[in-house]
Amino acid sequence: MGARLVILISGRGRNLRALTEAVRDRRIDAELVCVISNRADAEGLAYARAAGIATEVVAHIDFTERSAFDAALAARLRTYAPDIVALAGFMRVLGDDFVREFAGRMLNIHPSLLPKYAGLQTHRRALAAGDAEHGATVHFVTPEVDGGAQVIQGRLTLQPDDDEARLAERVMGEIELKIYPQAVAWMARGDLRLVDGAAVYKSRRLDQALTMAQLEEAFR
Ligand code: GAR
Repeated sequence: MGARLVILISGRGRNLRALTEAVRDRRIDAELVCVISNRADAEGLAYARAAGIATEVVAHIDFTERSAFDAALAARLRTYAPDIVALAGFMRVLGDDFVREFAGRMLNIHPSLLPKYAGLQTHRRALAAGDAEHGATVHFVTPEVDGGAQVIQGRLTLQPDDDEARLAERVMGEIELKIYPQAVAWMARGDLRLVDGAAVYKSRRLDQALTMAQLEEAFR
């Protein structure tokens, strides 16, 4: 049996879908044990239910204190004994205690060329800045928002007719849906680890993120 994978979502769930499909066809050697959402109306939840995956809702609106939400989420997660926790469009900032408990097991995907544009509205900000390139990054989660050790980063060249919506679609389709399943596959296989705060890929400490050139055939 492969690694135990839990996916956390808040929204549409396109990354969730890509990860689920990769688990199904064994490109990711893991068992998808649960999908947890902080929003009861997340579109991704309906997909997960229809796919026969166990789902849970830990609604942040039920908690006045952020730390109480974190504690409730951690308590639910613990029951699944996850080896990998993949944040897939999970739009809550997690506190230090939570992050420490799952450190080294938790990955996030963010739609920018980190360290550029942590936070929200990344596509709009890249366009407004007149950037030549934009992309997405998979990283380990540490207490810094969107700031942990980078694993893989994909980039694309902005085109004259890219507006915010088109750019978001391109980053999702051309980059996110490829690099995230690949990163989770590496982790499930034991090829990717966090050691002393650094990402280690096949025993090599990464000084910078891997690129799309390192995608295996099955993830291209
Ligand atoms: C994705 O673009 C993901 O990178 C982003 O939210 C979107 C979720 O879409 N995550 C963040 O901005 C995290 N800071 P999805 O639910 O369709 O996968």
